[in-house]
Amino acid sequence: MSATRGHEDVAITLLDRCRDRVRPALVEAVGRLHPWTGEMAAYALGWADTAGTPDPAGSEGKGVRQALALLGAEAVGADGTDAIPGAVAVELVHTFSLLHDDIMDADALRRQRPAVWKSYGTGPAVLTGDALLAQAVTSLAEAQGPETAAAVRHLCGTLTALVSGQAEDLRFEDRPWSGPGAVEPDDYRSMAEHKTGALLGCALALGAILGGASDRTVTALDRAGRQLGLAFQAVDDILGIWGDPGVTGKPVHADLRQGKKTSPVLIALAGGGKAAHELRAILVSGRRIDDETAEHVAALVDEAGGRTGTREQARRHLDAARRALREAPLKHSAAQELDVLFTHLLDRTW
Ligand code: IPE
Ligand code: IPE
Ligand code: MG
Ligand code: MG
Repeated sequence: MSATRGHEDVAITLLDRCRDRVRPALVEAVGRLHPWTGEMAAYALGWADTAGTPDPAGSEGKGVRQALALLGAEAVGADGTDAIPGAVAVELVHTFSLLHDDIMDADALRRQRPAVWKSYGTGPAVLTGDALLAQAVTSLAEAQGPETAAAVRHLCGTLTALVSGQAEDLRFEDRPWSGPGAVEPDDYRSMAEHKTGALLGCALALGAILGGASDRTVTALDRAGRQLGLAFQAVDDILGIWGDPGVTGKPVHADLRQGKKTSPVLIALAGGGKAAHELRAILVSGRRIDDETAEHVAALVDEAGGRTGTREQARRHLDAARRALREAPLKHSAAQELDVLFTHLLDRTW
């Protein structure tokens, strides 16, 4: 227990340290937005409340992507400072994607507060997402150094992947739970790798690119981040069913109500057995999932092995992420920090 706790503390300190290092550049980038979108961005980033008043209790999010960018640079022997434009870019892309995602998913809660579309309206939230996206690309494109063009190219490829992943995620809602047209494990993997893995891979890759690493090293770090992203999304799927909204700051059971094809449900259905049979009957009936039904569905998914199966998948992806890291000649101390962070992200409760 104390060993686990120690591990978690190290990871949280690491995330805090990276967040503090990137914040000035992030504040500067948000400061370049139109004042209205800037105010909504500051709310999304947990810096201010809806009155625009600084909010010291606001949640900035875990800051995983900015940390991966800094650690990616340090792992290839560069100074983390070299990666700050990349860290700003991935964190702004992430924030943009959350603003739009909450509208697409009709989720009203994010980072312990009403989502931006709930507080300001859908149109303003869409616009703020657009503003953040534009600023993300601008921040990176304006970075000094010979690697800037390669970094921007990488980010643009990631944006295309992220949007494809969100398209797959939304299209899957209308696909059947079983029979012809059902979402297969490979379909889920492609969706999760695009919507989440691509940006985590990009964060590590941008750190390596801006740190002057070889193409081979960049590719290895990108692969590690993609595998980490698959593990990360698997845990996010678990928290969406069994997480505590007071801790995650996000709704629980929303994915079940929305018909999202998440890993625990897909694995449970594939397992067969009595619980899987009952689960399939409920889902296929298309009946509305109210709070009580959602509790029952969650219990059936668990009983049919969806939770443990998803954790095993996450563990396998994390192992693959570690293998990818070992393919690159990395600085030992930074590689160790990445390892600690990877473990923390698998065991996280938010
Ligand atoms: C949530 O990302 C969206 C996913 C890709 C699963 P995070 O869990 O990193 O969200 P914050 O930034 O900590 O709020
Ligand atoms: C994660 O979407 C990916 C993006 C936001 C691009 P989800 O819909 O799975 O994430 P949460 O659970 O709302 O954070
Ligand atoms: Mg969502
Ligand atoms: Mg979504």
